[in-house]
Amino acid sequence: MTRFVLPESQLPTAWFNVLPRLAVPLDPPLHPGTRQPVGPDDLAPLFPMALIEQEMSPTPWIDIPGEVLDILRLWRPTPLIRAERLEAALGTPARIYFKDESVSPAGSHKPNSAVPQAFYNKAEGITRLATETGAGQWGSSLAFATAQFGLECKVYMVRASYEQKPYRKVMMELWGADVVPSPVDEPDSPGSLGAAISDAVRDTVGRADTHYALGSVLNHVCLHQTIIGLEGRDQLALAGEDRPDVVLASCGGGSNFSGISFPFLEDAEVRLVAVEPASCPTLTEGRFEYDFGDVAGMTPLMPMFTLGHDFMPPAIHAGGLRYHGDSPIVSQLVRDGRVEAIAYPQGKVFEAAMQFATAEGKIPAPETAHAIRGAIDEALAAKETGEEKVILFNYSGHGHLDLAAYDDYLNGRLIDA
Ligand SMILES: Cc1ncc(COP(=O)(O)O)c(C=O)c1O
Repeated sequence: MTRFVLPESQLPTAWFNVLPRLAVPLDPPLHPGTRQPVGPDDLAPLFPMALIEQEMSPTPWIDIPGEVLDILRLWRPTPLIRAERLEAALGTPARIYFKDESVSPAGSHKPNSAVPQAFYNKAEGITRLATETGAGQWGSSLAFATAQFGLECKVYMVRASYEQKPYRKVMMELWGADVVPSPVDEPDSPGSLGAAISDAVRDTVGRADTHYALGSVLNHVCLHQTIIGLEGRDQLALAGEDRPDVVLASCGGGSNFSGISFPFLEDAEVRLVAVEPASCPTLTEGRFEYDFGDVAGMTPLMPMFTLGHDFMPPAIHAGGLRYHGDSPIVSQLVRDGRVEAIAYPQGKVFEAAMQFATAEGKIPAPETAHAIRGAIDEALAAKETGEEKVILFNYSGHGHLDLAAYDDYLNGRLIDA
């Protein structure tokens, strides 16, 4: 069999909370002014209380509200696919599986958190959300989710992506969002996720009707994404596999990687590998220390791997991976040796994307292609050793709106950063 599909009735009804299962408890975020641990009241101008509670929750399983499940059912459970044609093309004895998150309305894993974030904000009486977006995947996901709940949405889009990906902007506008390039006050800057976060936080603190929504990094976002790994675990069982030997995902702010990997965290035999771009090597070359989540230093300080909050990554095509920091949970797991991190230059990533597209037919987002590169290299290593390794990766998004990047690759214009 090639596709392993769960019935709607087996959609997970609770998220997997990794916080109470960590070997070492997380250090708290610190207030940007006082440098003391932040409390719920400090975060209340930005987020609804339900999400603040999830950020710090000791509960191992957190119920997914019925209204959220009703929307997730539009595309979930997502299929698990065995990439047999890629296996054959590589001549590997490994079995490669991918979880196809590209089937969501916005085309990536991001709606898994956008929908609950919009739901909890609406439940608290908020009528408008402000956010940042890199590649446009998160912004379009939040635009979709706010449209479902009748909320207004303002998106600060990293200027490099705003210019490279005009159709993502059209998607957001179609779902009713207002989209502007960021940084708003530096028209010559290509921008970065950190700078766009500053713009969105600035917007939020000035308005009582508005909250801020973050598409990755924070614990509650990683929590919402665990639905991917929970489904994937059941689907691997359907495929007759006891466990994956290795789970890979691309890592920008960490929610994508968290989503597929956390449900396997407690099985010490499963290797977990986060894949990042060599041009923004947060986990592989950053320092583990307290740093701001944004360029302007307005967010709480978080304990994480960071390249420095003023780091301006080159304008590579995987816009969603251009972030100076990373999820505190993922960072700690890398620091403590539970999670491995690897980095690839984009030339090798696009080569893998093309190999995958040729074999399997699907055209991945450049972010997703980082995981594909990692999975292909695992499969080639298995070929060397003759090992029947089980490889699972997250197909986090399609690349149908990234064709300009593929055009650059095919015509030798890609800078191999
Ligand atoms: C398709 C795709 N995959 C992966 C990522 C990385 O996501 P995360 O921040 O959850 O690590 C992004 C981010 O925008 C993305 O758009």
